[in-house]
Amino acid sequence: MGPPTVDIRPLYKELGFFTYDPGFVSTASCSSDITYMDGEKGILEYRGYPIEQLAHSSSYLETCYLLFHGELPTPEQLENFESEIDNRNMVHEALKNFYNGFRRDAHPMAIMMGVTGALSAFYHDHMDVHNKEDRETAMLRLVAKIPTIAAWSYRHAKGLPFMYADSSMSYSENFLYMMFGSPNKKYVADPVHVKAFDLILILHADHEQNASTSTVRLSGSSEANPFAAVAAGVATLWGPSHGGANEAVIRMLEDIIKSGKTLESFVDRAKDKSDRFRLMGFGHRVYKAYDPRARIIREVCHDILRDLPADSPYKEMLDTAMKLEEVALNDEYFKSRNLYPNVDFYSGVIFLAMGIPLNMFTVLFAMARTIGWISQWNEMMGDEESRIGRPRQLYTGKETREYVEMSDR
Ligand code: ACO
Repeated sequence: MGPPTVDIRPLYKELGFFTYDPGFVSTASCSSDITYMDGEKGILEYRGYPIEQLAHSSSYLETCYLLFHGELPTPEQLENFESEIDNRNMVHEALKNFYNGFRRDAHPMAIMMGVTGALSAFYHDHMDVHNKEDRETAMLRLVAKIPTIAAWSYRHAKGLPFMYADSSMSYSENFLYMMFGSPNKKYVADPVHVKAFDLILILHADHEQNASTSTVRLSGSSEANPFAAVAAGVATLWGPSHGGANEAVIRMLEDIIKSGKTLESFVDRAKDKSDRFRLMGFGHRVYKAYDPRARIIREVCHDILRDLPADSPYKEMLDTAMKLEEVALNDEYFKSRNLYPNVDFYSGVIFLAMGIPLNMFTVLFAMARTIGWISQWNEMMGDEESRIGRPRQLYTGKETREYVEMSDR
């Protein structure tokens, strides 16, 4: 079960001893029953179930139930859960007004952050974070409404009418419908795309204490409204070192193709410490083996691209991605540092092939991760021992000194 864990709390209480660990490389901020990762072996499990088995046999909504409640649902429980979600997939009409406040060219993650946070204004009075039922309702509301919020951030940028959720469709099909459907034309989603999309949601559903989840826990630890805490998670996910990486991967592949330079020259550039360029979609704080999600998604990438016409630009992109992976995996620098492709290396290519615009990639990641965030928050709020998160610091500033009057400076 990984390296030994030492509980240093008694050392702090008795000796005032505390640890200095920038970036929390070796500090557990909590204990959790939800997700297990073994970075050395490339293992990922939700509630003890291997990600490979969930990817093969589960659906995103069933995985949501599992993550939140801890057990796989019975058929009846799943049916109830799905109808609870369907019943809540509309948003308050007034929420639409928030979209009009954003410029057309606003990044959809900025809209997502704002509108998700705005949910706290709609549900603040009915939320006792210490009440189990209220927490479950918050989860149902979030999982149900987040596809609408995400799809509308795209429709706003395009100047298209907002599409309302259609409960006769599955969760993933309904999202694609709200993105690409039209009020005056029947929309039929490609079943391969629906399946691939659902799978991507499962793979991104939780990943223990990553930066965005830790943010949701930290902000939630002050007993803040859960929708506000999740909005903080959306903000954190946006960065290119985290959820923004799938967008950055595509931009990098485009640059590679456009430049006409060799893949080796890009790999060499990524090794140069005087250059901030990194191979996007490579490396992970915890995985020091192949990311198990990347292994699963790599196959799906091939399935999707097999159906594309021979002259599709995405074929060249996938081809470039595959060759880049080969060059990097055979490079001594990448080998010695255990830098493998992560899930984002492939998810972007799949999204592109599905016609999803680049700036929506991280929004889809946020949509998938919402269940992880709220499940982790629920676990923390339900833990009698949990307390406000309050990291310490190592002060490296000036020693005490006297204030200098303006006239003497
Ligand atoms: N390209 C080139 N070198 C890299 C890369 C990369 N993508 N990733 C790590 N390295 C190097 C580091 O410079 C470091 O080199 P050094 O030992 O010579 O100093 C070494 O590999 C070890 O890396 P760390 O700095 O310890 O990695 P860290 O855990 O701090 O960062 C991160 C992990 C942010 C994911 C990093 O690998 C990265 O920036 N990757 C590209 C962005 C990316 O794909 N992010 C998605 C993460 S997955 C997710 O959020 C779903």
